[in-house]
Amino acid sequence: MLEAATSFQRHFGAVPTQMARAPGRVELLGNHTDYNQGLVMALAVDKYVFMAGAPRSDDKVELVSTAFPRPARFRLDAIKKDETAPWANYLKGLLLQLRERGLALRGFNATIHSTIPLGAGLSSSAALLVATALLVRKLFPYSLAPDGHASAMPRLETGEIPALGAAERMAFAKMCQAAENRFVGVNCGLLDHISSLFGQANQVILIDCQNLGVEWTPLAADLAVVVCHSGVRHALVGGEYNDRRANCEAAAATLDAPALRAVALDALAAGRAKLTPHQHKCALHVVGEIDRVQRGATMLRGGDLAGFGRLLFESHASSRENFHNSCPELDILVDLARQQPACLGARLTGGGFGGATLNLVRRGAAEDFRTRIAEGYQQATGRALESWICQVVNGAA
Ligand code: GLA
Repeated sequence: MLEAATSFQRHFGAVPTQMARAPGRVELLGNHTDYNQGLVMALAVDKYVFMAGAPRSDDKVELVSTAFPRPARFRLDAIKKDETAPWANYLKGLLLQLRERGLALRGFNATIHSTIPLGAGLSSSAALLVATALLVRKLFPYSLAPDGHASAMPRLETGEIPALGAAERMAFAKMCQAAENRFVGVNCGLLDHISSLFGQANQVILIDCQNLGVEWTPLAADLAVVVCHSGVRHALVGGEYNDRRANCEAAAATLDAPALRAVALDALAAGRAKLTPHQHKCALHVVGEIDRVQRGATMLRGGDLAGFGRLLFESHASSRENFHNSCPELDILVDLARQQPACLGARLTGGGFGGATLNLVRRGAAEDFRTRIAEGYQQATGRALESWICQVVNGAA
């Protein structure tokens, strides 16, 4: 948080009046299930987007990021996408959402500092959107109704603003998703935004994307969450993500189902001839993932960590063979992890096509695991490995 405030003071010559932060997330199990109304497990982790801000007296917005040299400046009545500053498009998309939902916006200055590695699949973009929504809420208090309508809200007598309840948090997640879908142009689901908003320390978040139910179950204290970044940048704005989504939706439509959630493995096998091979494989991955999350939840609750770990390896194999969203570097990382007795399971996490793997490792052996994987990865690919032992944390505030 300190860097965002210091950067604000340096750039604007004043103290920020409000701060917000939103964590990144690790997808634990349930790959590409969210936009198929499926089930997914995630963890909010101790990598954050921090923002500091203060209101202005005009209708201009000035944004500074510690990761990019040039600030972004625009007027609220002239918000336009700027491909030379893609990071600012997320904030612009969110501000447009607020305006479309009925909020009269006012100008502000803000700085952004992120500790979420870019392109690793830890949802830096969702965290940026969530942090923006919360920072603006602190600067100019507003509430979101369940239908998404935004209205100005008075501060409490103490000057504070009321805490966000669960229903309103979900409305925030949907607004952030809408900004990403409609303005940025990524057809992502709700997983990332929900995870950043609903995280709880040391808990796995279980999301049912059909009824948007959220539950939590403890992550065994003996387990460490190790994230290994392949160094291959994934860019979801590219067409692969949207291609997979379109093929999943086409498969569901051909099978007369509202979404792949409604398709069981045997029904998919029976309908195989109606699908193109690519559609069938996409659907097989998603339907299999939903089934693995269902079984995995029972295993986690029952303490069957070895069984749960095996599901992670199965999930990765399905990404590689069916969904084709892995890459050689991610496969190498998972193969190296499998050779480590302290590792219960490993898989690619998030959208795929590069990015990182998630590894569940016995806590006492986590540092040693990082060293061994780094050595093996260097030998196999010539690349230096970045990896992190992540703490599981509370959601955005
Ligand atoms: C990205 C998207 C999410 C989800 C995952 C894959 O992170 O933003 O909505 O689809 O990929 O599970």
